[in-house]
Amino acid sequence: MLVTNRDLLFPAMREAYAVGAFNISNLESFLAVVEAAVEEKSPVIVAVTPSSVRYAGLAYIEKIVKTAAESAPVPMSLHLDHGKDIEIVSKSIDAGFTSIMIDGSHLKFEENVALTKRVVELAHIKGVSVEAELGRLAGIEESTVEEKEAVLTDPNAAKEFVERTDADTLAVAIGTSHGAYKFKGEPKLDFERLKLIREKVDVPLVLHGASSVPAWIIEKAVKYGAELSGAKGIPEEHIKEAISLGISKINIDTDLRLAFTATIREFLTNSPKEFDPRKILGSAKEAMKEVVKGKMRLFGSSGKTS
Ligand code: G3H
Ligand code: 13P
Ligand code: ZN
Repeated sequence: MLVTNRDLLFPAMREAYAVGAFNISNLESFLAVVEAAVEEKSPVIVAVTPSSVRYAGLAYIEKIVKTAAESAPVPMSLHLDHGKDIEIVSKSIDAGFTSIMIDGSHLKFEENVALTKRVVELAHIKGVSVEAELGRLAGIEESTVEEKEAVLTDPNAAKEFVERTDADTLAVAIGTSHGAYKFKGEPKLDFERLKLIREKVDVPLVLHGASSVPAWIIEKAVKYGAELSGAKGIPEEHIKEAISLGISKINIDTDLRLAFTATIREFLTNSPKEFDPRKILGSAKEAMKEVVKGKMRLFGSSGKTS
């Protein structure tokens, strides 16, 4: 069934587990996410960025996700990830998305408040839940205190932001970043800051840039010709700690892209005579599905629908 992120995340916050938001960009990535959720009996957030909307088309995405949601025995939401303006937010709501993110993290505080408030007003009338973001995603390993303060989420500002905007969930910046190259040295997150934010803010908190960039996927991709030197993600222990300190939604894109790429490379190398797209892409779907299932177990969402 199709539900909102509010429906999925308040129970997660109460019971101290996290729901994964997995970015999809084609049929295979979507099927991987849904099949994993069904097999793990896990709630799931299907996340779509504006660039995936441009690639696949809102109407197709909505129909595909709704078709699965009608029969899948797990609750799922259809979520716009990193919506940057009213136009894409409105189009997504009209197309049937149940949850949207308005990402004003690049704006000044007051501008972010104003944009988020407007979006909350128009989303809530339609029963759609809203994720907002305060702070900028950036690695902090070599940052000074001043640099950290300039980019990471300020706990007091977070409290004021949520109170003034009425956002349903808040994405926070504690040292994660998007993509496969998150740290040059040792992975480092600001857990003290997360603890303070959790104490002050009473809505579910969201961690973007949370892929772990698993060594076994990188090794496979590199073995079959990929160039990924220096790739590094968030260790699984850090993810567990973030959940124990109050993160309720975790965004994963990069690990699925890496699994897709590594598996396609392996398949094509090992099966030079194969040219059936269903076999080639099917192998990638299975690999992404295994990654998603592993995340659901790590996040503690497996079994939460039974
Ligand atoms: O934050 C989300 C993604 O990792 C970037 O996605 O390439 O679909 O814009 P995109
Ligand atoms: P990763 O690049 O770490 O997978 O983060 C994805 C994300 O935050 C999508 O919003
Ligand atoms: Zn993100």
